[in-house]
Amino acid sequence: CRLVVLISGRGSNLQSIAEACRTRGWPAEIRAVIANRPQAAGLQWAAGHGIPTRVVSHRDHADRAAFDAALAREIDAFEPDYVLLAGFMRILTDGFVGHYAGRLVNIHPSLLPLFPGLETHKQALEAGVQVHGCTVHFVTPRLDHGPIIAQGVVPVLAGDTEAALAERVLTVEHRVYPLVVRWLAEGRVRLDGDRVQVEGCPQ
Ligand code: GRF
Repeated sequence: CRLVVLISGRGSNLQSIAEACRTRGWPAEIRAVIANRPQAAGLQWAAGHGIPTRVVSHRDHADRAAFDAALAREIDAFEPDYVLLAGFMRILTDGFVGHYAGRLVNIHPSLLPLFPGLETHKQALEAGVQVHGCTVHFVTPRLDHGPIIAQGVVPVLAGDTEAALAERVLTVEHRVYPLVVRWLAEGRVRLDGDRVQVEGCPQ
C-alpha cells in the first residue's frame, strides 16, 4: 500500500507512521512526504530516513485552486493508494478533496464532532469535558467532519494545562494513526456513505 504524507510542521505523526512501516512484514510504505512550508521540521526527518520529500509552498501560488492543483500533481506522481494529512495546516478545495475521495485521511486532535478547527485542547478545557482525544477520519469538503475511522480517548485531569493535555493526546495519536494505516493497507476499511466499517472490529 503506497502512502503520501502531507505535513506542515513537526511531523511526529509522520514519524509514528514511518516507524510502523519499517516493521518487518508491514503492509504499507511511505512513498513521499510533501510539505507546504520549506521549514517544516518533519521534512528533514523524512530526508534523513531516506524518504523522498517535496515542498509545494502555498506562497508560490495565486490562490487555493492553483496551490491544490500543484499539490495534486506532486502527490499523483507517487501514485499513492492513500494520502495522509498529518498536521497539514491548509484548508483544501472541494476539487482537491473530490479528486482523492475515499483515499484522503486526516488526524484531528479532538473527539470529533466535538471541537473542530483550531485550539482543540483549549476548547476541551473550556468546555469542562472529562475525556478528550483524537480522531482519524476520511476528509470531506466540510472541515473536520468526514466519516470517522477510529478515535483514541484520554482523560482530562484536574489542573491540566493545554500543553499537558496536548501531550497526552499526542501519545494516543501516535498509536491510533499507525493502526488505521494498517487497517487501510489490509483493505479492512469500508466506506459506506458517511459510515465506516472496519472488518474484524466490533462497531
Ligand atoms: C497533531 O496534533 C495533529 O492531530 C494535528 O496537528 C498536530 C500535528 O503534529 N492535526 P505533528 O506535526 O504530527 O507532530
